[in-house]
Amino acid sequence: MNFGPLIFLAAFFGLTCSWFGFVLTPQFQVGRLQQTNTIPAGALYPVSRPGLARQGLSVYRANGCAYCHSQQVGQTGTTCDVVLTDPGTNQTALLVALRKIRPALSESEDKELLASLPKTIRQGVTKEEADAAVKVLTSSSAKATTWIVPVGPDIPRWGIRRTVAEDYLFDYPVMTGSQRVGPDLANVGVRMPDANWHLRHLYAPRSAVKDSVMPLYRFLFEKRRIEGTRSPEALTLPPELGPEPGYEIVPKPEAIALVAYLMSLRANEPLFDAPVSVAAAVTSNSDTNAPSGGTSTPTNAAPTNTPPTK
Ligand code: HEC
Repeated sequence: MNFGPLIFLAAFFGLTCSWFGFVLTPQFQVGRLQQTNTIPAGALYPVSRPGLARQGLSVYRANGCAYCHSQQVGQTGTTCDVVLTDPGTNQTALLVALRKIRPALSESEDKELLASLPKTIRQGVTKEEADAAVKVLTSSSAKATTWIVPVGPDIPRWGIRRTVAEDYLFDYPVMTGSQRVGPDLANVGVRMPDANWHLRHLYAPRSAVKDSVMPLYRFLFEKRRIEGTRSPEALTLPPELGPEPGYEIVPKPEAIALVAYLMSLRANEPLFDAPVSVAAAVTSNSDTNAPSGGTSTPTNAAPTNTPPTK
């Protein structure tokens, strides 16, 4: 009997199924992904990395940083906090409301709590419980909000929320990495904003972290004889790691681009698919719902303590 057509059909079926699974479905899911808005500030996200940082991405790739560093923060879920932002005008009613939410508190503890706002009244509760508590508080003319707090082993040590597909929109190739010999770098620009620290760390990881196993990237730097004055770009190193007297270590353009890339790694904006409430940078009384007209940049966390999901 001729099994040819059957084998052909079986192979065709197998290949078609894999094509649907591995090519078409991802294409439908993220193929046409576009910039989105931060919530509730409404700023465009993400914006393309600066040119120098884009060059830095290729240095990052060329030096195999992704073999040891992931760029994907995970989260296991979200919990909610209830934050009291304004005591309102009726303190007696507020104290009664507070007693309902936290019966264990004494009156003097209540007063202490109201002395400096905003204060977290309840922590780690479900959205329903948090909304109910906010309702009780606001009924006394006080102002309170529900804060969304992502939780999981990566949070908050590496990021304040999980990373999502939009975070990588302008990166090609995407350096998500798969091993974590070193810390996750998805949000390193926010966690460690000191460019000089990064340069020193790249030149001599052990100058920053005792017993670090990160390789030394000395070839990204140049040793120069000091002629006249020291270059303003020269690294400040401890004597045992620095060059001999009369010499200085200056970063090459690759090192500067790489650090610009590290500085641009910031996955901390609240998005629809990764909601998180962030503290207002300066003001304490900031439970405004009004969109701030796209003024938020990655460097200044806009007041977004209104829960993005209702
Ligand atoms: C062999 C694995 C390995 C490679 C390759 C590697 N690193 Fe690291 N990296 C580590 C380890 C381990 C740490 C933690 C100890 C330390 O801070 O030195 C680290 C720490 C860091 C930190 C500090 C992060 C933090 O949260 O403390 C940065 C930034 C960093 N590496 C950037 C890079 C860059 C950029 C490259 C590529 C040029 C790179 N690493 C290559 C292993 C590696």
